[in-house]
Amino acid sequence: MSAPPTPAPDNPPRPPRRKRYAGRNPQRFEDKYKEHRQDPETLAKVTASGKTPAGTHIPILLPEILEILALRPGETVTDLTVGYGGHASALLPAIQPGGRLIALDVDPIELPRTEARLRALGFPDETLTIQRSNFAGLPKLLATLGLAGVDALLADLGVSSMQIDNPSRGFSFKTEGPLDMRLNPDRGQPGSALLASITPQKLAALLHENADEPRAFLLADALAGQSFPTTRALTDALRALTPDPDEAEITFRRVFQALRISVNEEFTALDTLLRHLPQCLNPGGRVALLTFHSGEDRRVKKALAAGLADGTWSSIADTVIRPTPSEQHANPRSTSAKLRWAIRAY
Ligand SMILES: C[S@@+](CC[C@H](N)C(=O)[O-])C[C@H]1O[C@@H](n2cnc3c(N)ncnc32)[C@H](O)[C@@H]1O
Repeated sequence: MSAPPTPAPDNPPRPPRRKRYAGRNPQRFEDKYKEHRQDPETLAKVTASGKTPAGTHIPILLPEILEILALRPGETVTDLTVGYGGHASALLPAIQPGGRLIALDVDPIELPRTEARLRALGFPDETLTIQRSNFAGLPKLLATLGLAGVDALLADLGVSSMQIDNPSRGFSFKTEGPLDMRLNPDRGQPGSALLASITPQKLAALLHENADEPRAFLLADALAGQSFPTTRALTDALRALTPDPDEAEITFRRVFQALRISVNEEFTALDTLLRHLPQCLNPGGRVALLTFHSGEDRRVKKALAAGLADGTWSSIADTVIRPTPSEQHANPRSTSAKLRWAIRAY
């Protein structure tokens, strides 16, 4: 005897609904599904409004960097901070045929996504080498690859928009998430652990040196040794310590920047890179360095000036290059960018 047919359910299952959000457009990073899906119409609308689509990054000073690096077919180039691959995807065609781009980043979360995007543009292993690496180890990496030097180098320092905008990475004071801030979450300690264990003296020095925070001692006394598991816990504490509400956002910005630099040992990595730069470039090689705050720019400016004085560089930027007003308008995240360059002597 055959089994009786299964009765039709009274309430057949409905197709899954799109997540609800308040207002006409999603506000939360994870709800911006059209941006994550790279829907062309949505990307165009978001970009035209002066915002960076979720999960992407807009390359800064791109035409200026291409002009400085003056790439030729067959050359070998290193992008020390490949990020989303915005600069890299313009460098790659400029060195074809026969050229090779070595692209590094410390971020194990974004790097595989970037590699997939760049490979999908048609760049195979012979043309594009992707390495999860800290640029402080550049000489060793080039030696491993059997290269004495490269023809051009690009460093676009700091954090990418995909990292800042993702609340789970804990970089932004604008969204709630764990106070992590590690570019490579597999290494080092998160921002919350740093704050919980640091002394007031060390924290004051860090706030002053990494972000020129004018109230470094007052803030350090209140924050050092305390538990701030989330970005919100830290901004709440900073708001309570900042009587003038107009000063709140700039204080958040400076404190978050100072912590991020410390968590990722960004100045140590930059100082090491600047020391090794000339030996990593072939004679006549070009380097472009894009910085985002005075602590970075001071270091780059000083290192390039010293190298010009001792004959390491044949020429360096005599003034800093800034994004045009129209680039700053189209991409407000470019506003603080400063570009410097140098050419290695023969
Ligand atoms: C501003 S983004 C680069 C964006 C990229 N130029 C683009 O067009 O998409 C900076 C990137 O540098 C990476 N980074 C920061 N410090 C690094 C270091 N010491 N070594 C390697 N990568 C680093 C970050 O993880 C981030 O992805």
